[in-house]
Amino acid sequence: MEFEAFQSSLADPAARRSLLFRDGLPFHVLLAHQFERPDLEALCDTATAIRRLDRHDEGRPFLRGVLAERRILNLFAQPSTRTNESFVAAGEKLGASVRVVSDLRTSSFEKGETVEDSVRVLSSFYDMLVTRHHDDDFAARAAWTLSRSRRPIPVISAGSGRSEHPTQALLDVYTLRHSFAGRGGIDRKRLLFVGDIARNRAIRSLATLLLRFEIDRIDVACPKEHEPDRTFLRPFEERGVTVALHASVADAIRAVGRELDAIYITRLQREWDGPDVKPGTPEPFVLDVRHRSAIRDDCVILHPLPRINELPDAWEDHPGFVVWRQVRNGMWMRAALLATIGGAADEIVALAGRLGL
Ligand code: CP
Repeated sequence: MEFEAFQSSLADPAARRSLLFRDGLPFHVLLAHQFERPDLEALCDTATAIRRLDRHDEGRPFLRGVLAERRILNLFAQPSTRTNESFVAAGEKLGASVRVVSDLRTSSFEKGETVEDSVRVLSSFYDMLVTRHHDDDFAARAAWTLSRSRRPIPVISAGSGRSEHPTQALLDVYTLRHSFAGRGGIDRKRLLFVGDIARNRAIRSLATLLLRFEIDRIDVACPKEHEPDRTFLRPFEERGVTVALHASVADAIRAVGRELDAIYITRLQREWDGPDVKPGTPEPFVLDVRHRSAIRDDCVILHPLPRINELPDAWEDHPGFVVWRQVRNGMWMRAALLATIGGAADEIVALAGRLGL
């Protein structure tokens, strides 16, 4: 199968499943929406089991054996703090050794080596490849190459261009599920997304995962020039889910403030505007504290980070502020994903159950 056929097959749910899963378990992780609802529930349960086992005298050494002797390479061509470090921490909690290459100028990419040759070489030395790249297709091309090779190691996207950040979406679903645990879960909740929808891969991936739940509307506040494109809107239209656009945070809060169960705010993605453009978010897309009285106390406030000025510190004492929990959950969810790919999730959940955790 040529790469173009591999990519177009990913649009079909059955073909996607067969290309990205093996024996019912995720293998390559390229797209948030490759996960169906039972996959999400299983990953969340595994993340919780790992979190609890890690605090337990018998659980901790057990976890260290899950990926013992396995080697993971984080190949990051774009800057990262959370995703990179949480994959390192997650792998190490499971006993894997994790190496990071974050300056591709030190590799033979610099000499013009193709993605295909490079990842085949890397698969000789590593058991899993975690990649972040400015090219939307880098991780998919690596997965396609390795699927056809004699050493088909899993490829996990840790951020693909402007389009996908599947592991961020998984940790966000985990955080939302926890936040709404006493309120019927994620179904029927109302979310407002704020930021640069056209170029923010965290929003794009989470929004598509929300379609795995019973959602009938999302609200979006974004600059006119970064409004959702057809690729973003089509799955919502197909499912009859309303995407309501607002010209500013103030407009959105005025329209639906008290109905909101969660606000997911992001920075504007200035890095795509060239090296001379300074980071920062204009006032209409800042979640100013004056909006506090217009939303409920149980409205959950999320941000994938890094933040610039769009989510002031003054929100930190809001009862729904879960941003630091999201960071920590990134480690537990990525550990759950690595363990699931490694075939150990059932054993982990069973041990946590046996220990009464
Ligand atoms: N949320 C996120 O992707 O952060 P990093 O860019 O620091 O990995």
